[in-house]
Amino acid sequence: MSHQAETEASAPAPEPTIITVGEGAGSGGQELGYDVIIGNGLLSRLPGLVGPQAERVLVIHPRALRATGDVVREDLEKAGYQALVAEIPDAEEGKHIQVAAFCWQVLGQNDFTRSDAIVAVGGGAVTDAAGFVAATWLRGIRVVHMPTTLLGMVDAAVGGKTGINTSEGKNLVGSFHQPAGVLADLDTLLTLPRNELVAGLAEVVKCGFIADERILDIIEAAPEQAQNPHSWQIRELIERAISVKAKVVGEDALESGVRESLNYGHTLGHAIELAERYQWRHGAAISVGMIFAAELARSLGRLDDATADRHHAVLNLLGLPTTYRDDRWSQLLEGIRRDKKNRGDQLRFVLLGGQGQPATVEIPDASILFATYQEIAQPETGSMISL
Ligand SMILES: NC(=O)c1ccc[n+]([C@@H]2O[C@H](COP(=O)([O-])OP(=O)(O)OC[C@H]3O[C@@H](n4cnc5c(N)ncnc54)[C@H](O)[C@@H]3O)[C@@H](O)[C@H]2O)c1
Repeated sequence: MSHQAETEASAPAPEPTIITVGEGAGSGGQELGYDVIIGNGLLSRLPGLVGPQAERVLVIHPRALRATGDVVREDLEKAGYQALVAEIPDAEEGKHIQVAAFCWQVLGQNDFTRSDAIVAVGGGAVTDAAGFVAATWLRGIRVVHMPTTLLGMVDAAVGGKTGINTSEGKNLVGSFHQPAGVLADLDTLLTLPRNELVAGLAEVVKCGFIADERILDIIEAAPEQAQNPHSWQIRELIERAISVKAKVVGEDALESGVRESLNYGHTLGHAIELAERYQWRHGAAISVGMIFAAELARSLGRLDDATADRHHAVLNLLGLPTTYRDDRWSQLLEGIRRDKKNRGDQLRFVLLGGQGQPATVEIPDASILFATYQEIAQPETGSMISL
């Protein structure tokens, strides 16, 4: 991974920061070695990522981002591409097979070939869906992601996982398809609702605990600035979180080993999302999931008190939830049993052995999970924070 602009400085660099994902890494057949460009006013960089071989570009965006999608299309036209837009339903409604079929239809009717490209403009739902369309059209064409949510920037747009939902569950259909590049324009965060921004910060905090302690220091020093899209702090947090993900993905593109560390907090988090029928934001659920993982690691004697307590402190500073209702354990355990990290009946969790030391750990006995759950469970009062 190369990190062309140093992020140690306390003022934002005026130039964009470029983080290369998987440079020189064993990619397991995946085309790694793409740039994530982070900064402000980055549209002029888009043609460089789309590349000269494409003649046609399909810009896929949700209804909520029509204006941004139009600007992107116009810019591509000016750069000499034949640019079209496909407007898809917002959020999870866009991750539907019928939406993919609609996009395939647009691609087919406009003679998109293997050398043409897709640009995804939106949050994680759009990058997942557009990535899936790109992965499947003619067995794979280029896709450039332009994430417009914090979660999209630090997580969904980087790493090549694409997916759509089925009536049986979320993200059940998809493939690994690495983008040709990612353009994270911080200006897009100016219109993002605050709760979406805070939810995205949960993934940033995760990167702090599994790898980069400086992330936690920045949040603790200025929690308000960490939520301010104009601040140097948010830029540095985004850059650091992307660096963490880029490094892990570079080592394990297909999630067969170290990439599991990115799943920190996600075992209980996914179970909460399922129990809440996806009405909780992902970041809120994994916030509780990280607290649970910290308490579990503490109970198992793996994690020191200071690091476990720091989970509560940092997540509370951001107003993220740290407790969950006490009447849902059996439902949550069912969700935990469905986690992709499990092997047969063996339950597995990503736990810390200390700051920045994640490992996947087999849990010998589900009773310790129940005992740990008592640490975070609260009577349902109807006022639980879900963001
Ligand atoms: N592929 C991966 O590795 C990966 C990782 C994490 C999450 N995901 C997926 O990402 C999705 C969640 O992503 P998300 O949190 O970005 O949610 P989202 O894409 O649903 O966006 C949240 C909401 O914010 C709106 N929005 C987006 N950008 C905006 C902006 N700049 N201004 C105003 N409104 C804006 C959207 O229209 C939507 O209503 C889930 O489907 C999840 O499965 C994928």
